[in-house]
Amino acid sequence: MKSLIFLGAPGAGKGTQSKKVAESNNLMHISTGDILRKEVKANSELGRKAKDYMDNGNLVPDSLILAMLADALKAIGEFSGFILDGFPRNINQAEKLDEMLLSKNISITNVIYLAVQESFLVERLSGRRICSSCGKEYHVLFNKPEKENICDIDGEDLYRRSDDHSVEIKNRLSTYHESTNPLISFYTNKKLLDEVDASQDINDVTIELNKKIS
Ligand code: AP5
Repeated sequence: MKSLIFLGAPGAGKGTQSKKVAESNNLMHISTGDILRKEVKANSELGRKAKDYMDNGNLVPDSLILAMLADALKAIGEFSGFILDGFPRNINQAEKLDEMLLSKNISITNVIYLAVQESFLVERLSGRRICSSCGKEYHVLFNKPEKENICDIDGEDLYRRSDDHSVEIKNRLSTYHESTNPLISFYTNKKLLDEVDASQDINDVTIELNKKIS
């Protein structure tokens, strides 16, 4: 079983790449951000608890995230493995993940760090647009829909994430540096970390990732 973590700053391309790599390798894509956004949209209890943290670019408390992840992992049986996108976000989550996987006799096979110069991240995040119906992601410059602001798949309108504005982006980047960046040393010490240059074009990054995990 392939058990992968895609690690990187907001805007590094974790979501874009993990969807593509998961589809072509029969892996389950588990994005804690996507799950949380669905919960917020559904106005569930979890969504109501998470919303303020997300809107401000802060991490949602570990207790909520870990319960959500345990639930998501129940569905991996149908796949050849999984990609974790946006999880873990701090050392405590990484340690709890190890415990959770150990109880299922699974261990992480690769942690791939998507390295991007900081100067690219703000431009990527502020230009991101998402389909309000199917969730497909675009970028106003780097990954344009055929018609401006309209999804190629279903013709629905595109929207900008509430945390993709300058103040929230700044906060997300500082949260990343403080809480998530230490995971690079954590996984380097475990000899699991690999790196791709995620400043390249989207398709070139996918090619490099597929080579790493094959
Ligand atoms: P989450 O949804 O995980 O957001 P994030 O980590 O900030 O990551 P992003 O989705 O913004 O970036 P990405 O790396 O996926 O980039 P993407 O591929 O979309 O989390 C949101 C919030 O939920 C958090 O702030 C927190 O509150 C909460 N949360 C989630 N998980 C949590 C956890 N484990 N613990 C606690 N709280 C948690 O690309 C971005 C844009 O760039 C797109 O428009 C794309 O088209 C474009 N792009 C991508 N690659 C390239 C490229 N190579 N060249 C040019 N453009 C590109």
